[in-house]
Amino acid sequence: MADLRPRDTQTKVKHEILSQYLDVWGGIIIGGLKNSKRKTQKHFIYVDCFSYLGKYSGEKEDSVQNKSVDNIYGSPIIGVMALDRLVNFAQKMGVNIRVNSVLIEKDKKTYEELIKTLSEAGFSNRLVEITDFHNLSSGQIAIVNADSTTIANKLLAYTTQPDTWAFYLIDPYGPSGIPRNFVEKIIRQERHDVMINFIYEDLPRKGGLALKENLKPELKQQVDNWSNAFGSEDWINIVRVLSEQDNKFIENAEKEYGNEHQFTSEEIADIKEQKFVESYLEVLSSIDSSLAIKLVNLKFSDKDRTIFYLFLTTHDANGALALNEILFNAKLLEYELRYRLQLVKRTAPPPGQPHLFPLQDNELIPPKPESPSRPTNEEIGKVLMDRFSGQQVTKKDILKELANTFYFRSEVDKALRYLRKQNLLEFEGNPRQYTSFTFH
Ligand SMILES: C[S@@+](CC[C@H](N)C(=O)[O-])C[C@H]1O[C@@H](n2cnc3c(N)ncnc32)[C@H](O)[C@@H]1O
Repeated sequence: MADLRPRDTQTKVKHEILSQYLDVWGGIIIGGLKNSKRKTQKHFIYVDCFSYLGKYSGEKEDSVQNKSVDNIYGSPIIGVMALDRLVNFAQKMGVNIRVNSVLIEKDKKTYEELIKTLSEAGFSNRLVEITDFHNLSSGQIAIVNADSTTIANKLLAYTTQPDTWAFYLIDPYGPSGIPRNFVEKIIRQERHDVMINFIYEDLPRKGGLALKENLKPELKQQVDNWSNAFGSEDWINIVRVLSEQDNKFIENAEKEYGNEHQFTSEEIADIKEQKFVESYLEVLSSIDSSLAIKLVNLKFSDKDRTIFYLFLTTHDANGALALNEILFNAKLLEYELRYRLQLVKRTAPPPGQPHLFPLQDNELIPPKPESPSRPTNEEIGKVLMDRFSGQQVTKKDILKELANTFYFRSEVDKALRYLRKQNLLEFEGNPRQYTSFTFH
């Protein structure tokens, strides 16, 4: 069984993204339903394919300072709570919804602990141990002790019903949890938003193994798990090309970095990372070209290296742009948390001893980070004019066009107002969903 352990900075950032996106995701859909003529009940489902215990023994930072703190909830409870918030929000907006969660955990002992955590959190009367999800009544939480990769069809039979929206969290420890044939079934469904944890730190190591001959069966399996995740062995070529210092590859890279450049091992590792990630991005986009895919890399709390990437997929352009902002802010949070943890570690007492002068919050504020510059009104305005000049369109058309950019929703709205001021665009009032936009 997995032990109760403190929550790392990268896990905290992951949870923050999950919680914020679930709120925005539900909010966008309900906002769109507010004026809908069909008043049928709508269904929202959270599916946590790799649940874990549902709790952590406080933050890593607190454990370093030997502070005793309350447990912190993990993804299954974050998901259930987000849907409960959604019920309240929908009620206020006059939209009739029902919600359900499906929480899956393969390891029996961890599963039992998860049930305990759910009970501690006050959900015991909502729990049901069933896989016949159609029998769930509103608000119920299905808990399943199974290998989630083997029950995709069952899950999808439930979440692809009419008037249903689903959010899947696919957050395993390694590549065996993200075989392509499992992931693709889910992400290609309309009204299904998905967050995938791609455990990058394991990949270069397994790449090294992949080049060796006569691997022992268990090591061969670990390599094959990555091939299954990519759906082919193409990823091994990236390792091969780099390890053979393939001339063409270096030539191309030299074009980017300048001719005289001598590659350090860190740079090669960075290039490798970029290639691996591009390759996985291609895998996901080849599954469904209408998907918007967003990603963020998160670092180990104590090493300056990527531990995992979160890939988020959606068919909703509004959701895609909302993710841009959530992921941007997630990097700022990561910066702050890693700074705090490192400072706290330097001043921590020896293990087991109480901290006489633990650092206060105001002593843990990091210096202002170097923030990447954001696009200007002119830049976004130009993209919009190039695309829509002379046309009358809706906000939906505009967002769809911009889904694969890195703009925030607020930046797009600002650019639309800017164009209006420049007399290049006409629209009434605020740039809302059903507003009509006439580009000159
Ligand atoms: C990284 S942890 C999940 C953390 C959790 N999502 C959170 O953020 O709090 C992965 C969990 O998946 C479980 N697991 C591994 N393989 C699985 C499978 N095939 N199906 C379901 N659960 C699995 C492990 O036992 C472990 O508890």
